[in-house]
Amino acid sequence: MVKSMLAAAWRPAVGRRGESDHMSVTYQSFEAEHIDRVLDLWSRSEGIDLGSDSPASLQEFLERNPSFSWVAVRGDLLIGAALCGHDGRRGYIHHLAVDSSERRTGIGQALVQRCLSGLRRAGIGKCHVFVFRNNRFGELFWGPAGWERRDDVQMFSHFL
Ligand SMILES: CC(C)(COP(=O)(O)OP(=O)(O)OC[C@H]1O[C@@H](n2cnc3c(N)ncnc32)[C@H](O)[C@@H]1OP(=O)(O)O)[C@@H](O)C(=O)NCCC(=O)NCCS
Repeated sequence: MVKSMLAAAWRPAVGRRGESDHMSVTYQSFEAEHIDRVLDLWSRSEGIDLGSDSPASLQEFLERNPSFSWVAVRGDLLIGAALCGHDGRRGYIHHLAVDSSERRTGIGQALVQRCLSGLRRAGIGKCHVFVFRNNRFGELFWGPAGWERRDDVQMFSHFL
């Protein structure tokens, strides 16, 4: 009994809709206060490799790229996130994710549009996104939204 009450006390957003169901989705600038909940969302999202991302590294990223990244919130639930920034030349969107119980309602596109608006305002003319080859959302999400798949580019990475 006590065990089941404890189990019910903390559950991820998945399957936890109820009181929040009737509340509309709001979009907020991704700030330090969201980091723990965003990491929880990302860790539950297929196709997202957190690599060396930590609360501290994300906070540093947000400080270097203020106001470019977004979260989607319904009531007290954080249901979507996109990390975005630029290097003065190109923009980048990382780790776009929407809670599995909230997908196909336009939240992913709304997050991307907010990221792109911020980049545009900063004078950035092009944005890249890196998607694992085996991620089905590469074709399903980015392709139909007008993003060009680059077969002419290879990615090389190096640990420092
Ligand atoms: C990719 C992801 C962010 C999309 O979020 P979403 O809120 O469901 O996306 P949207 O509702 O804005 O979808 C926009 C369009 O993308 C396409 N699409 C998205 N998911 C799809 C699916 N499962 N099947 C077919 N088409 C899909 C559709 O064209 C959709 O428009 P429609 O619903 O009017 O047909 C979400 O599926 C996710 O979090 N996936 C796991 C993490 C991931 O792979 N992230 C991308 C790597 S960076």
